[in-house]
Amino acid sequence: MSTLLVLRTSLNGDNSFSNRLLDEFIAKTVAKWPHTRVVERDLNAEQIPMLNSRTVGAIRAGVNDTEERRAAIALSDELVAELKAADYIAIGLPRYNFSAPATFKSYIDYIGRAGVTFRYTENGPEGLLPDVPVYAFITSGGAYAGTEHDQMSGWVKQVLGFLGLNKVELIHAEGLAYAADTAMAQANARIDEIVAC
Ligand SMILES: Cc1cc2nc3c(=O)[nH]c(=O)nc-3n(C[C@H](O)[C@H](O)[C@H](O)COP(=O)(O)O)c2cc1C
Repeated sequence: MSTLLVLRTSLNGDNSFSNRLLDEFIAKTVAKWPHTRVVERDLNAEQIPMLNSRTVGAIRAGVNDTEERRAAIALSDELVAELKAADYIAIGLPRYNFSAPATFKSYIDYIGRAGVTFRYTENGPEGLLPDVPVYAFITSGGAYAGTEHDQMSGWVKQVLGFLGLNKVELIHAEGLAYAADTAMAQANARIDEIVAC
């Protein structure tokens, strides 16, 4: 039995294109492999707190002298355990103000932990998460992939790679503000190809 971890971030609930692509991905995956265990985390519905001056020491250095810091560590441990248990990961990432949702950045801030998800070696940083496939669905009102205005794609790959996730495929559904049918059809076709493998 494989475990699929699904991370949602859209503000738009059932009207969200990235949520619809994730729904398609889950449905087609489960249809092909019925024993798939799907673990879902909606980072919009249940937001990870922003790091602050009190919790940063807990996440970055394990300081656990207050209830707030212990809670931060416990949440981070839970998030990391989910990642370590996943055989593959699907993420919905709308483009908001030219970047990933702030909720996803808070999530990353909670899972980036020296000695836990990365470490520094003589040869530089080394990611410690299991290097499982990641499918990230980037949904965007306009179209930016492949242009100098797409700062988001590079960051998503960089930060996941830093944590050990190097097999990241970005599936772009762009121009959703004016050509949604075409963009969604292309993204759905890619889902079909992925699941057919
Ligand atoms: C707060 C906010 C900021 C947005 N910023 C951008 C942007 O910078 N560039 C863009 O092309 N579309 C932008 N959009 C449009 C979204 O990318 C578009 O609605 C997309 O479908 C969102 O994905 P979703 O449907 O999964 O929520 C923005 C939407 C919101 C709500």
